[in-house]
Amino acid sequence: MNALDYALSCPKAELHLHIEGSLEPELAFALARRNGIALPYASVEALRAAYNFADLQSFLDLYYACADVLRTEADFHDLMLAYLRRARADHIVHAEIFFDPQTHTARGIPFETVLRGLEAGAAAAKAEWGMSTRLILCFLRHLSEDACLACLNEAEPYLDRLHGFGLDSSERGNPPAKFARLFERCRATGLPVVAHAGEEGPPAYIHEALDILKVRRIDHGVRAVEDPALLARLAREGIALTVCPLSNLRLRVFDDMRQHSLPQLLAAGVKVTINSDDPAYFGGYLGDNIRAVQAAFDWDIATWQQIARHSIEASFATAEQKASWLDALTPPPTTEKRPSP
Ligand code: HPA
Ligand code: ZN
Repeated sequence: MNALDYALSCPKAELHLHIEGSLEPELAFALARRNGIALPYASVEALRAAYNFADLQSFLDLYYACADVLRTEADFHDLMLAYLRRARADHIVHAEIFFDPQTHTARGIPFETVLRGLEAGAAAAKAEWGMSTRLILCFLRHLSEDACLACLNEAEPYLDRLHGFGLDSSERGNPPAKFARLFERCRATGLPVVAHAGEEGPPAYIHEALDILKVRRIDHGVRAVEDPALLARLAREGIALTVCPLSNLRLRVFDDMRQHSLPQLLAAGVKVTINSDDPAYFGGYLGDNIRAVQAAFDWDIATWQQIARHSIEASFATAEQKASWLDALTPPPTTEKRPSP
């Protein structure tokens, strides 16, 4: 088995996936039709042609516009199940899924409608093939801390159905420190917290996410390589980064995959994981990210095994789940056994 086949077929966890970012144009148009609403694009092809982003903000503008087709519990169910089927094809055994309730409650969609729909999709995948999922509520950092605290208040009755809190949306100008009180309250729930940092924002935002928000993982974090002391700290403290290579290319964080900071992160001993972020918008799901990375770096089986191990170890799955997936990670022997004399 070659390294690419191994990387594609081994069991792995996806830790950085925005469910709204898995909305394919075909499903967007189907939901628009079902809900009797119009998208500001004439066709699937016209919408896909708009996927030409200059930076994070230009992507987010389209991402929030398309999310408008998500109205009913059935819509969120269909969205979740469609993503999980793709995840299964990529041998993802466990997916930790971000959702942005503020994107929906601002349009008058009740928090409970969103949550019930996503849960129903996840339950169908669990019943059908044993898929393991976790839901992570993400706050929109372009909004005020008070608006995010109001969202947390709304989520409070459902805490036993959530598995963590995150921070996403426009990074520049919205540093982690803006959300110190919010994250203190999130941590008081006992659920783990994560945050996007060091995608477009500077390494200082990664320090803030660790020191002020006290996150367990950093989403993206690819700009950590600009700060050698930070790089050493991430390695020393075993902080996992949920890196999304095709996202970084599409949002022009790097001009070319061969310029991506992944090799420097790995060489520094950082717990790197590979993820798809918003696969409908960025050119592919986890398998596509793996193919693009392998085409650029030609890693060996041991490196891919290490990345899959990181994804499982850094997940919020139970110790029993992790042990069973880690057991299944042993690569097949690459050399033939010698016949006994
Ligand atoms: N970065 C920040 N916010 C996001 C992203 C991202 O890549 N995707 C969806 N919301
Ligand atoms: Zn993201």
